[in-house]
Amino acid sequence: MFDLADKIALVTGASRGIGLAIAQQLAQAGALVICVSRTPSAIEKAAADINAAGFKAEAFTCDVSQLQSVDKLVKSLIERHGRIDILVNNAGITRDTLLLRMSEDDWDTVLNINLKGAFNCVKSVTRPMMKQRSGRIINISSIVGLIGNAGQVNYAASKAGLIGLTKAAAKELAARGITVNCIAPGYIETDMTTNLPEKSRETLLKQIPLGRIGKAQDIAVMVHFLASDEANYITGQTFTVDGGMVMN
Ligand SMILES: NC(=O)c1ccc[n+]([C@@H]2O[C@H](COP(=O)([O-])OP(=O)(O)OC[C@H]3O[C@@H](n4cnc5c(N)ncnc54)[C@H](OP(=O)(O)O)[C@@H]3O)[C@@H](O)[C@H]2O)c1
Repeated sequence: MFDLADKIALVTGASRGIGLAIAQQLAQAGALVICVSRTPSAIEKAAADINAAGFKAEAFTCDVSQLQSVDKLVKSLIERHGRIDILVNNAGITRDTLLLRMSEDDWDTVLNINLKGAFNCVKSVTRPMMKQRSGRIINISSIVGLIGNAGQVNYAASKAGLIGLTKAAAKELAARGITVNCIAPGYIETDMTTNLPEKSRETLLKQIPLGRIGKAQDIAVMVHFLASDEANYITGQTFTVDGGMVMN
């Protein structure tokens, strides 16, 4: 069940945190994972570790906010492997500050990576996936895109935008056998969240019914399921994986 043997999976932001856990999970399920991030040494290490563990991965340096670079990468992957079965739009950043202090650059940079980056990747894989008449696209949003958060108007807007992108693309691509879904993680222990003061951490824990901060692996298993053939009747959905913080 949920076997990904011979699938080609492109995972952005795969050098650490949630993206690395996703890359490892998909590789363990049998996929050849194309690991992408901006830092050559980090992404090469991520792929090398997966290969050393006996699974399959390749590393590529690419800034997802640059459409030309993404397009070039996808074209080279198609030449090399003939197909892309799974795209996971995970690359993301924060530039938190209160609205009054937020600069235009804080806004543009976060939107360009988190939202336009996903658009760039979806746009580039759409043609090959349409030709294949199959594909799985999984976007990593955030519960902040559903409920908002003070100090994160740029991030919240980018993550809410991903949910809209998911629904529109799901409707557009359904007839070609391509599913598009979204995962909205809650608070997950990664580099992005390590600097939280102890007091804020305690307050946060009180808001999580399951009583613990999430692990990157908690997100990776959901991606694995949505990427599988078994998830073929699910599209346009947003799944919160957050210990019960947001209940729909
Ligand atoms: N951690 C949480 O609590 C949490 C909660 C909800 C949602 N999320 C979302 O989950 C995703 C992963 O978060 P994380 O906590 O694992 O973050 P992280 O540890 O900071 O990792 C971010 C990854 O994205 C890559 N990246 C950043 N900008 C990029 C760009 N322009 N092009 C290509 N790759 C880029 C980074 O590598 P380089 O810097 O080398 O490029 C890194 O591999 C993000 O979209 C985040 O918003 C996280």
